[in-house]
Amino acid sequence: MPGQFVSLYPKDGSRLLPRPISLCGIDRDKGELRLVYRVAGAGTKEFSGLRSKDAIDVLGPLGNGFPVEPGKKALLMGGGIGIPPMLELAKALHKANSAGSDKAAAGLIQTVLGYRDSGMFLREEFAPWGPVYWATEDGSAGTKGNVLDAVREHKLDAEVIYACGPAPMLRALKAYAAEKGIRCWISLEEKMACGVGACLACVCKSTEIDGHSQVHNKRICKDGPVFPADEIEL
Ligand SMILES: Cc1cc2nc3c(=O)[nH]c(=O)nc-3n(C[C@H](O)[C@H](O)[C@H](O)COP(=O)(O)OP(=O)(O)OC[C@H]3O[C@@H](n4cnc5c(N)ncnc54)[C@H](O)[C@@H]3O)c2cc1C
Ligand code: FES
Repeated sequence: MPGQFVSLYPKDGSRLLPRPISLCGIDRDKGELRLVYRVAGAGTKEFSGLRSKDAIDVLGPLGNGFPVEPGKKALLMGGGIGIPPMLELAKALHKANSAGSDKAAAGLIQTVLGYRDSGMFLREEFAPWGPVYWATEDGSAGTKGNVLDAVREHKLDAEVIYACGPAPMLRALKAYAAEKGIRCWISLEEKMACGVGACLACVCKSTEIDGHSQVHNKRICKDGPVFPADEIEL
């Protein structure tokens, strides 16, 4: 499912914990997953040295993924390393919307991407699924600012928002969606340890009480990473 992730295990035994990376592409016919990641530290640096046919331990797919709601005008918002999962979501939504005809899907998927600067990875790959808008923090391309600045500049509207990105971006989107009365799904990219719901390293505060532990907590790896924005305290 778009929005799910896999946990990748570094070979170096000094780095025991797996690194979660979202599914950027799913090819069921070929049995392939595509992962797009930024080299952030030692684990991802090790992965970046892998070559074709090298083997790596992978656990997954994990997490719940985005609910694909066809027939609704959608805004897909990705910020930084939150951009890769939105690409598979765009494809899945297009497939569900079109149900055999591209005409039915026209105009339903709008994507807004937020980058630090003009190194705009994956941007062109969103174009087949609908209009794409972008913002850069340094103003070197597109709207200067963040994804919401781009939404306002282009006067975009939607019936549903799907988003993945840093916490300040998601916090702003949650407020925006509440103000406009738009249904909003957010994917949280919190630091994780076990990745399968056992260690509680990834809990976030929720508005609902968890039936098991009776506290206002959700495990991002197991209950998420995708949540309705109004269920999560950011
Ligand atoms: C569900 C999920 C999906 C993710 N999908 C992607 C993806 O598709 N592409 C991608 O590039 N990254 C993704 N990430 C972030 C990725 O997991 C981290 O960048 C990676 O684990 C860092 O490992 P490392 O050993 O290279 O760096 P570390 O040495 O562990 O950390 C290096 C730096 O990255 C920061 N960092 C570590 N974990 C995270 C995190 N979860 N989010 C943000 N910063 C972090 C650390 O604070 C530190 O500053 C995802 C994270 C989660 C939880
Ligand atoms: S990472 Fe262990 S419970 Fe989520």
